[in-house]
Amino acid sequence: MSEAVTRTVTSPPGLLASLDPLLREWLPRQRWFAGKDRPVTGFALVAATELLPPTTKLGLYHLLVRAHQPLLPGHGGQEQPGECYQLLIGVREALPPRLAPALIGHVSEGPLAGRTVYEALHDTRPAELLLEALRSRARIGGLRFERDPGQEIRPGLVPRLMTVEQSNSSVVYGDTFILKLLRRIVPGINPDLELPLALAREGCPRVPPPTAWLVADPDPADPGEPHVLGVLQPFVQGATDGWELALRELAKGEDFVAEARALGRATAEVHTALARALPTVTLGHSGLRAMVAGMTERLAAAVRAVPALRPYATGLGSAYTALDGLAAEGQTWTAQRVHGDLHLGQCLRSPARGSSHAFGSGGEWSLIDFEGEPARPLAERRMPQPVVRDVAAMLRSFDYAARSADPPQPDWAEHCRAAYCSGYAEAAGTDPRTDPVMLRAYETDKAVYEVLYEARHRPQWLPVPLAAVRRLAGPDPTGPDLT
Ligand SMILES: Nc1ncnc2c1ncn2[C@@H]1O[C@H](COP(=O)(O)OP(=O)(O)O)[C@@H](O)[C@H]1O
Ligand SMILES: [Mg+2]
Repeated sequence: MSEAVTRTVTSPPGLLASLDPLLREWLPRQRWFAGKDRPVTGFALVAATELLPPTTKLGLYHLLVRAHQPLLPGHGGQEQPGECYQLLIGVREALPPRLAPALIGHVSEGPLAGRTVYEALHDTRPAELLLEALRSRARIGGLRFERDPGQEIRPGLVPRLMTVEQSNSSVVYGDTFILKLLRRIVPGINPDLELPLALAREGCPRVPPPTAWLVADPDPADPGEPHVLGVLQPFVQGATDGWELALRELAKGEDFVAEARALGRATAEVHTALARALPTVTLGHSGLRAMVAGMTERLAAAVRAVPALRPYATGLGSAYTALDGLAAEGQTWTAQRVHGDLHLGQCLRSPARGSSHAFGSGGEWSLIDFEGEPARPLAERRMPQPVVRDVAAMLRSFDYAARSADPPQPDWAEHCRAAYCSGYAEAAGTDPRTDPVMLRAYETDKAVYEVLYEARHRPQWLPVPLAAVRRLAGPDPTGPDLT
């Protein structure tokens, strides 16, 4: 592909109709598919771009498709517009054995009749093509490949698809870059690009700075907001994520206090840089009301769904009324952009004495994945919030790690939680424990979410958040014990 390629391409008519029966089977089996509780009843094409014509040995389509899923009985029963997913579809005569796990199926009719289609991110050439397009800032159809002019991408980096469980799909290029392709696509600025770009502008060293990104421009006939589709960032070589590291230390019977303190400092550095980079607001009683109402509603829904929560409903609710009470008395809080889905798995620790000068080579923590909770609407995810939200989420994560050990190690978690807050205070100048009511409200909201999630998806994990629920609802709860 040459420099600054611009190609206008259309996809053949009938493409989606011919893929429909195959995608109905394949899509719900993907880890990142969000609607596993309901069948897919059809698809609508949002955008299709031919990246390689199917007449060659290898064809390649970039698709944005909306999956229709009827609501469950009791929820109105009508069809909702459905989620929009990003797909990269490869087309071959037949698949070589190495690509067997990527098979979507054999097309029986339409423009690709007789061909085999597959998940193209598993394949070298399509992955190379994406990197090449980012490097050369290509425009292909409605796809716009952008690159930070200050960062170079060396040609010839070898791609490999990451095999970890994730909610999106990532390709690593020669241990130098990682491209995350978002799977659930929404119009508008995605915080997974917005926040790392803002942090890079601030020179914050805790977050890999976006090197390049991929955007779908709206159809000129139907103007709207662009869709962020993917972000390329420097790959932190030899990194271990915080969850893995924590479990390793737990298994060895080691504490995690120094790491937790360093993580607290890293979180505070990111918060301080975000507060400098993007607007902050003051939250008073009226601003807080919507937040408290949301927490209260989520609690009520969880109590309805999970009977084990019932005995604690009043105690948990008191966390929210206490917060509302403080606001009614005139207390205010500063709200700013935050990570929004912080946990140990979103933190990467690079090896200590790295010999390279690559990003994050000094044994430091980096924070990744600023997408927020993908199930929440984008506007909500981009709203300024008290920093304590991220702190509370991380405190829950220490608890999760400690209670997944055999036997559970609640003291280990308490030491980490205290160290994390101390580290945070060292770098931010404010200790999150000085705001115990807000901290308890956010921890409660998180624990309630966890109970609902575990009850639905992993019942054997339910005791973990229920232990937190008992503590947070306690007979005379005065806030989390973080001494
Ligand atoms: N810059 C990076 N360097 C090294 N590994 C990374 C980097 N970014 C992500 N990863 C790895 O990829 C995984 C998934 O990335 P993440 O951004 O959390 O995606 P998802 O939104 O799918 O959760 C991480 O848990 C981590 O193991
Ligand atoms: Mg993640």
